Order: sequence, then structure tokens, then C-alpha cells
Amino acid sequence: MRIGLIGYGRMGQAVERAATARGHMITGVIRRDTPLDACLQVAQQSDALIDFSHADAVLAHVELALQTRTPLIIGATGWDAQREAIAQQVQANGGSVLYAPNFSIAVQVFLQQAVSLAAQLLTLEGWDVAIEEIHHRGKADAPSGTARALATRLQHALDNRRTAQYPAPADHRLPDAQFSVGVVRIGSEFGTHRLMLDGPYDWIELTHRAKSRDGFAYGAVRAAEWLVGRTGFYNFAEVLHEILAHKEER
Ligand SMILES: NC(=O)c1ccc[n+]([C@@H]2O[C@H](COP(=O)([O-])OP(=O)(O)OC[C@H]3O[C@@H](n4cnc5c(N)ncnc54)[C@H](OP(=O)(O)O)[C@@H]3O)[C@@H](O)[C@H]2O)c1
Repeated sequence: MRIGLIGYGRMGQAVERAATARGHMITGVIRRDTPLDACLQVAQQSDALIDFSHADAVLAHVELALQTRTPLIIGATGWDAQREAIAQQVQANGGSVLYAPNFSIAVQVFLQQAVSLAAQLLTLEGWDVAIEEIHHRGKADAPSGTARALATRLQHALDNRRTAQYPAPADHRLPDAQFSVGVVRIGSEFGTHRLMLDGPYDWIELTHRAKSRDGFAYGAVRAAEWLVGRTGFYNFAEVLHEILAHKEER
């Protein structure tokens, strides 16, 4: 497969390694200052584009993908507010986009288990829940897209009886109907997400810690292999089982 990279920072470089390791070719890199005609050329020469750039640029990259009819993987985070409008634009134009706030396959399994664990225990009296995420100082958005996804899925599982509060209020106690989503920024940490459950007699923690960026890059390349030949707007978590079963392209 021929893959065009959008953004060539920490993740863009990890995707290049993961794609090459799976036998794919990198057609080119689209950077912040790449002229439009060069962006069009990279997109036209690619079977798929993989975007790990910045939230502010996601809409422009979707438009590039629609104009050139190139499938687009979006790994950049922090554009949740635009998601519905982008989904409609992609569907109305017969485009092909797959996104995830976290392309780690292990994180997707962690999220499923975390929601199930919390939903079961919070039916019991006296249990409380909180989420914490820890990332490197260079991360542009907070809380992380993964922490937001965990909070949203937990809210749904609890029928919105409890809602996420971020950041935690500084001037008053946290109402019982809310739970905290804590943010820590330190050094070069790749990404840690933790679910904490506090009960009358027990404390439970479930933690996922990325050992490198390679797991995110690997998941994004697997997603690109699956997306080629399909149209629609897809969420990685919702089609992960199909992606894992997909063996055509190596
Ligand atoms: N979904 C996942 O699994 C996952 C995992 C890790 C990270 N992320 C997200 O992926 C994004 C990138 O993370 P990172 O750690 O790689 O950040 P990074 O090291 O800062 O790299 C971002 C790169 O994108 C470039 N860029 C910014 N605006 C651009 C534009 N308009 N067009 C093209 N390139 C542009 C930046 O260029 P400049 O240096 O010139 O600004 C930089 O090279 C972030 O949103 C992060 O939260 C997602």
C-alpha cells in the first residue's frame, strides 16, 4: 500500500516505521507549510493518508481527502466539537474516514473492561469512580481524547446518572452526581490512563501504560489497511473486531 503522512512529529515518524515494517511505502509527508499543490500530489499518489498533526488542521485534511477521494485515518485529537459536522460532510460526499483518539489495540480492550468493571460496581452502594491520564509535557490537548472517550462511555453505561467533571472544581466539593477526570503532564511519558474505583471495603485500579508510541502507530496502519476500498465515517473502537480479522493486505 502507498501511504501519505500528514504531520511528521513524534507520531508521524512512528507511523513511518510501522508502515515500512508491514511492507508499505511512504509516498510523502504533508507538513504545516506544504503548498496546496504538493499536498494534492501526495494525496493523489497515496492509497491512504494517516494524519497525526493537530486538531486545528483536521478539517482541512478531511477536505483534501474528499477532494482527492483518498481514504483518511485521523489520529490527531482535540477536534471532538467538529466530529458530527465532519461525519456528515464525509458521508454526504461518499468519503472514507476512520478516526480514533487512541489507536492502541490494547487500550481499546482496556476501555471495554474499564467501563464494564465500573458499571458493575457503581450499581452497589458506596462506590465512587475517577479517571486519571498522564502524558508528556508536549501534549497539546487536555484531558486526552482517550480519557474523554472513557468518561463518555462510562456516562452512557451509567445512563448519565453520573457525569464527568474536568477539571475538578477548585472552589467547592465535587457533587455526588459527578466524577473527576484528572490530568497530569510530566516529562516524556507516552500515555497512561487509569480507572480508580473506591468502595466501602475495597479500592480497585485498572491502568494502561504505553511503553512507546509504536502501539498507536501499529493500530493506525492496521486501520488504514482495513479502510481502503470502503466508504463511510468509522470509529476505530466500533470496527476493531473487523480490523483484526482483516488479513488481505500485508
Ligand atoms: N490517536 C492516537 O492513538 C494518538 C496517539 C498519540 C498522539 N495522538 C495525537 O496525534 C497528534 C500528534 O501527536 P505527536 O505527539 O506526533 O505531536 P507532535 O510531535 O507535536 O507532531 C505533530 C506534527 O504535526 C505537525 N503539524 C501541525 N499542524 C500541521 C498542519 N496544519 N499540517 C501538517 N502538519 C502539521 C507539526 O508540525 P510543527 O512542528 O511545525 O508544529 C508536527 O510535526 C496530537 O493531536 C496527539 O494528541 C494520537
